[in-house]
Amino acid sequence: MPKPLLLVITPFADDVLQPLESCCEIVRWRALPAPSDFLRERGPQVRAVITNGLVGLPAGSAEHLTGLELIACNGVGYDAIDVAWARARGVAVTNTPGVLSADVADLAMALLLAVFRQIPAADRHVREGAWAKGPLPLGRRLAGSRIGIVGLGNIGRLIARRCEAFDTTVGYAGRTRQADAPYAYFESPRELAAWSDVLIAATPGGAATRHLVSGEVLDALGPKGVFINIARGSVVDQDALVERLAQGGIAAAGLDVFADEPNVPAALLAMPQVVLTPHIASATHETRRAMAELVAANVQAWAARQPLPTPVP
Ligand code: 8YV
Repeated sequence: MPKPLLLVITPFADDVLQPLESCCEIVRWRALPAPSDFLRERGPQVRAVITNGLVGLPAGSAEHLTGLELIACNGVGYDAIDVAWARARGVAVTNTPGVLSADVADLAMALLLAVFRQIPAADRHVREGAWAKGPLPLGRRLAGSRIGIVGLGNIGRLIARRCEAFDTTVGYAGRTRQADAPYAYFESPRELAAWSDVLIAATPGGAATRHLVSGEVLDALGPKGVFINIARGSVVDQDALVERLAQGGIAAAGLDVFADEPNVPAALLAMPQVVLTPHIASATHETRRAMAELVAANVQAWAARQPLPTPVP
């Protein structure tokens, strides 16, 4: 019997993929000379796909993947994967929760400190020889700040723990109050923003959270407020964010995610009060390996008809 066909859409570690050759025939989407010919000729034979939560299935491919059984997402967020579509066809979807949470929380803190203490500007100040000519303008103290976390899931909780260690006060907004969370709960992101010095987006992406951080929420955060986003670009109204930053409606931002990656609005690139990183929250050797291994474990379990380790909820 031929091995089931596994289509790997997004970049994936060769050495983690290789053991899967014992259970699957592996085809890399990016190595295909003519992807549309492949879809027409072999699309119905594809049984499993590895992708990520930003790419999902390539446009126009779903109609050809009539034999699909598994979409294994290399990431915790799966907003680009149509889970309702998959469910209706009996296609299982898995993701990689847990293994990346600490790194994502670390990057939230890194952005927060980079904004408050002007780390990119300070680094330039030294490198460009400006130090001898005068000091860098003063930064801002983080200790004592009120930090509002939008979305107190796994990642939000780890951010909260780190914020406690930095002597800040934490509040949160989310769908429900969490009885075991020792932080102030706010019914809406707007109320949370009005209380906060810093607002950190830590929710999943997708339709349910699109523009949850609206212009109105940013106005509530106010002219001294700082916005940090390690969630998804879609969670904030990016045009409203750019406008508030340009006009002093909020003070500063630290952004790892954007509405249309890898494109970043030129206005943001020109703003010294904004720290930008290229969607790297999970990008450490250790975490990317753990994510890849969890994806592989899901594929292996599917191939062996075993329970999937991490199906999406
Ligand atoms: C990855 C992510 O950058 O897990 C997520 O939701 O956004 C990131 O970990 C992405 O999935 C790339 O594989």
